Amino acid sequence: MTLLLVLISPLLLFLTLRMGSGLVQCRELEARKMDNSRRIANITAAIKDMLEDYDIRLRPRFGGPAIDIGIDIEIVSINSISEVNMDYTLTMYFRQHWKDERLSYDPCLGNVSLSGILAERIWVPDTYFPNDKRSFVHDVTVTNKLLRFHHDGTITYGMRITSVASCYMDLVHYPMDEQNCSLEIESYGYTTADVNFVWQYGDDSLEGVNNIEMAQFTLSDYKLIVKMQNFSTGSYPRLALTFRIKRNVGFFFLQTYLPSILLVMLSWVSFWINHEATSARVSLGITTVLTMTTISTAVRQSLPRISYVKSIDIYVITCYSFVFAALVEYAIVNYNYWLEQKKKVKEAHGIKNNPTQNSNNKKPPEVRYDQLQQFNPQVALRLSQVDSEDDILEDDEMKNSMGMDALNGNDRGHRRTSLTYRPQHRNNAQNNARNNTAYGPRYTNVNPSITRRRKKKPKRIRVLPRIRNVNTVDRVSRILFPFLFLLFNVLYWVGYLYVLPNRSKNE
Ligand SMILES: *[C@@H]1O[C@H](CO)[C@@H](O)[C@H](O)[C@H]1NC(C)=O
Ligand SMILES: *[C@@H]1O[C@H](CO)[C@@H](O)[C@H](O)[C@H]1NC(C)=O
Ligand SMILES: *[C@@H]1O[C@H](CO)[C@@H](O)[C@H](O)[C@H]1NC(C)=O
Ligand SMILES: *[C@@H]1O[C@H](CO)[C@@H](O)[C@H](O)[C@H]1NC(C)=O
Repeated sequence: MTLLLVLISPLLLFLTLRMGSGLVQCRELEARKMDNSRRIANITAAIKDMLEDYDIRLRPRFGGPAIDIGIDIEIVSINSISEVNMDYTLTMYFRQHWKDERLSYDPCLGNVSLSGILAERIWVPDTYFPNDKRSFVHDVTVTNKLLRFHHDGTITYGMRITSVASCYMDLVHYPMDEQNCSLEIESYGYTTADVNFVWQYGDDSLEGVNNIEMAQFTLSDYKLIVKMQNFSTGSYPRLALTFRIKRNVGFFFLQTYLPSILLVMLSWVSFWINHEATSARVSLGITTVLTMTTISTAVRQSLPRISYVKSIDIYVITCYSFVFAALVEYAIVNYNYWLEQKKKVKEAHGIKNNPTQNSNNKKPPEVRYDQLQQFNPQVALRLSQVDSEDDILEDDEMKNSMGMDALNGNDRGHRRTSLTYRPQHRNNAQNNARNNTAYGPRYTNVNPSITRRRKKKPKRIRVLPRIRNVNTVDRVSRILFPFLFLLFNVLYWVGYLYVLPNRSKNE
């Protein structure tokens, strides 16, 4: 045994010296600045040597244990995250590292970067992305591929890929949602018996994450996963890169929430408009309802046709309901009002047509039109025309003549005092009234004495219609609608911005 050791040790010593002298030789060569043409000739020779007897069909260490394929990715950009197509576009530098001893060469040559075309002459892993819809290697100005050889046979094979990868999105919480999008990497033909996929630099294998800018999302987290995928043809090595992206609500706030809020508030304006302004209130109601329809259509257009209710749907539908309720509220107010009106008119006619009262009293009972007028001046006017034409005419005439006097500011008014109003029979008077309203005042000769007598009578001064009779429904709505909307908003935003994120964090 010792003899053997004695015999071997000079041999070992010799070998060590040989290697040392080899290194010295290399350094000398470098020092001599080996001329370029010689180096080129040497490398060409090395490549030729490498590819001689190289069988591209066989994987490195064929028949031996599985080889490790290290992968590292540098992300250039993530964009076009589409809810409708449920996918996203990823551009990256995708690099694979493996060792092929058949391609080792003289260490003096150092690392050699070669054209990507050479990738067609050597064995490369059959990596693919199981969840991509379409991918391509950029080819401007030449195919964006990199091939670097190391003297020990380690090969770095990089390329620039743009891949549209599918990403199933759960939109229940849209637009307060977070999505999990991934890129899967797998070997197409080699099972775990032949190749093994690993992240080349462990958890640092993903670069460029901090530089990712997305219009609508913020990248909150990412994970690198190593797993195995079993198919009927065997189990395959698979790597997965998962991003957690959070949607920014700001865009939706400006696009959908704010307009909806303003529309709901606009629909409340109706409660402050007199209920007699039918056209104003109805058109306001219908306009707000139609605009809400437009908003909800716009929301749906950017989403796939999913059947479940999303967070934004809850908001839009509630706003729609509020706007719709404001319109229905007016229908109720109007119906109530006319019901009351009908009752009033019926009462009035009931008293008038009462025969017993008529027989007792020669003068027909006085109906309080001024009371009715509170509700609707038009109705009161119509009724008073029917009942006592003279009164209304007198009023109209007085008003008109006064108005004209004041307007003209001349003595025509005095002349007009000589005009007398001759009480005519009913039809004529009615015509008069119509003419007054339609074509302006029509004057007949007025006896000054009559005018004087009339002036003595206590005048009913017409002022702007007072809104004393604000409908109770309107009055309640003014408080109830804003209160309910505020309550809904508080619940909605607290729920989605505080409760939900905390709950998903705890899960
Ligand atoms: C290049 O080849 C020559 C012989 O052909 C050899 O002497 C020299 O050492 C080689 N240089 C390198 C760097 O391998
Ligand atoms: C060759 O590549 C290896 C691995 O990438 C690196 O560690 C080494 O420094 C490189 N050598 C030269 C001379 O560039
Ligand atoms: C993706 O979703 C799964 C399950 O919902 C979760 O466990 C995982 O952490 C998510 N990925 C990332 C990167 O957060
Ligand atoms: C895949 O199959 C292997 C055995 O072939 C088994 O050990 C492994 O658990 C399977 N993996 C899954 C995810 O089913």
